[in-house]
Amino acid sequence: MTQRKVAVVTGSNKGIGFGIVRGLCKKFDGDVYLTARDETRGQEAVASLEKEGLKPKFHQLNIDDLASIQRLRDFLKSTYGGLDVLVNNAAIAYKAAATEPFSEQAEVSCRVNVFGVINTCNELFPLLRPHARVVHVSSFVAKMVTDKNATVKKIFGDSKLTQEGLIDLVNDFVKCAKAGNHEAKGYANTAYGMTKVAVSALTGIQQQQFNKDPREDIIVNSADPGYVNTDMSSGKGKKTIDQGAIEPLACALLPANVGAPKGETITSGTKVLPVF
Ligand SMILES: NC(=O)c1ccc[n+]([C@@H]2O[C@H](COP(=O)([O-])OP(=O)(O)OC[C@H]3O[C@@H](n4cnc5c(N)ncnc54)[C@H](OP(=O)(O)O)[C@@H]3O)[C@@H](O)[C@H]2O)c1
Repeated sequence: MTQRKVAVVTGSNKGIGFGIVRGLCKKFDGDVYLTARDETRGQEAVASLEKEGLKPKFHQLNIDDLASIQRLRDFLKSTYGGLDVLVNNAAIAYKAAATEPFSEQAEVSCRVNVFGVINTCNELFPLLRPHARVVHVSSFVAKMVTDKNATVKKIFGDSKLTQEGLIDLVNDFVKCAKAGNHEAKGYANTAYGMTKVAVSALTGIQQQQFNKDPREDIIVNSADPGYVNTDMSSGKGKKTIDQGAIEPLACALLPANVGAPKGETITSGTKVLPVF
């Protein structure tokens, strides 16, 4: 087993995740895993960074497939005996012109963007070493939702909310979306936005758990990359992927025993984005 530190970035064959891997390869003192649900796309992305003189490693990871997450967990455990940086970047977003019914968009978005992240955390958190850093790539859209929707802000921002309570809320949102009454019940009419609110809420809940964890100084934050030129934004974002990677990288590389940010959603450097 190697003594080297190790970082993992989900959904990093393209877009902001690819930029985060590039940045970690330059700044993180350890092995950096570019992961992708599709092996070929992942290996092509690794080859492209190798042409820049960087040396990312590759592992397959589909966050929508528990067996895939568990294969990565077992590999990390046997090869490194732990994990030092986890960046939960992978996510999906339906386009505004998507023809899938809202009920389907809500179910699939929550399955990948929320439950995929929770499953990844549940499987990989036991591997985190002291001083580990976890980053969820969230979005300014989370704040846009809570600014416009007092009910969402109140129930997802409840300081007593637990992970189980959050899962119940997200399942209830999906159930209401299928019944067509999600807005009447106080939820926002955006599947993607609701998933990013949930991820920001998850961040605070997880940090409360880490604060009680016997492993020293484990920190989780969400990072808003801004509006970035990727396939998700249909190329409309103004930032490059390297600019979008700045906030996630700042969170991933927080120095040991730093006081803040902890359990926050951050934006523009390390400024706190008050989602709740
Ligand atoms: N772009 C923006 O302006 C913006 C703004 C705020 C926040 N964000 C957030 O930034 C993150 C990255 O977004 P992006 O703009 O870079 O999007 P992107 O270009 O669409 O890239 C998304 C990445 O996630 C992967 N992915 C999707 N589902 C997956 C799954 N089940 N398992 C593993 N990987 C999966 C994709 O893989 P495939 O290639 O196989 O599809 C791709 O590598 C997301 O969390 C997004 O919500 C983006």
